[in-house]
Amino acid sequence: QELQLNLEQIEKGGYDHFMLKEIYEQPQVIRDTFRGRLLSDQGLIKMAGIEDNLNKFINAKRIIIAACGTSWHAGLVAEYMIEEFARIPVEVEYASEFRYRNPIINADDVVIAISQSGETADTLAAIKLAKEKGAFVFGVCNVVGSSISRETHAGAYTHAGPEIGVASTKAFTTQITVLALIALRLAKAKGTMSQSDYLRNLIELELIPEKVQEALLENDKILEIAKIYKDAPNCLFLGRGFNFPVALEGALKLKEISYIHAEGYPAAEMKHGPIALIDENMPVIVIAPQQNHYDKVVSNIQEIKARSGKIIALVSKGDEQVKNLADHIIEMPNSTEALTSIIATIPLQLLSYHVAVLRGTNVDQPRNLAKSVTVE
Ligand code: G6P
Repeated sequence: QELQLNLEQIEKGGYDHFMLKEIYEQPQVIRDTFRGRLLSDQGLIKMAGIEDNLNKFINAKRIIIAACGTSWHAGLVAEYMIEEFARIPVEVEYASEFRYRNPIINADDVVIAISQSGETADTLAAIKLAKEKGAFVFGVCNVVGSSISRETHAGAYTHAGPEIGVASTKAFTTQITVLALIALRLAKAKGTMSQSDYLRNLIELELIPEKVQEALLENDKILEIAKIYKDAPNCLFLGRGFNFPVALEGALKLKEISYIHAEGYPAAEMKHGPIALIDENMPVIVIAPQQNHYDKVVSNIQEIKARSGKIIALVSKGDEQVKNLADHIIEMPNSTEALTSIIATIPLQLLSYHVAVLRGTNVDQPRNLAKSVTVE
């Protein structure tokens, strides 16, 4: 038994939990994921699965993304990226809904299935259905040789390495990395993005590992915030644009491992319901980088403050405006609008982690959840 314990400690690499180890692995695995694919000095992206099927993507009338859980959130980020960069219409589907609703799938549709494990039953069934209807199916999986990677026509692996914690962390950020590469490659092929925007995103993607590292430096501060809010019964996560799916993912993480009821919302939707819940006991986490929707998010923050909600804001380094409004700020480095979604994910993972540890839950194996859902 002692040997077993020691083995597990070694596997955790000095961290208390696999989840924390996996959070801290992100700079490395994101780099592993774009290594050899992102050639920023040449202005090129090379991914065999995309190059070999470039015409299918370019001629696609639309792209359908099917996934579950955290992978579905990565799909939402991809929707924003592919539509913005490559101007191809994208629909993101819960695989479980898609497979049972007689969806319209045409032979010139491209279906992208996203799955960490590559074994999720609903996602696998969605792929089989899409193939029957003649669509080209592309997989984004982490586990090499998994069922989904074998069932798809082509694909691109994330290189997150084994993810042990049931709550997905590094799989999510490496999925966004692969999907950003795909979106940028398609934009280049379609000529839908200015060369300067394209190059800027390539250079910024290459900088993501060090910016994620920088975001991790806020860990101690996040622990202090977690101590204050660990007993909150509810929690709201808000974000706009590329950070709306990040808000959903932040809420899912907190739910999964701390069992606190949490909801993610696009910040502007708050006034259509969730605002009714806001009082002095309600922590609201707002993703508010100094980007496109900054002023809008600032006014959302003012609305929360006017109702005595507690504001924890994720801001760009050096932000002064939100600092004066929020109860707590967590700083993060800026990137392009799209790629900030990767950076903003990090503090939310840490916040959930610390809250869960403080509440004494089983962080790596939360109750009722499975790492991979291979049954319906
Ligand atoms: C389960 C896991 C989640 C995961 C989801 C989809 O619910 O607990 O962390 O996001 O399945 O898994 P997949 O392997 O298809 O990404």
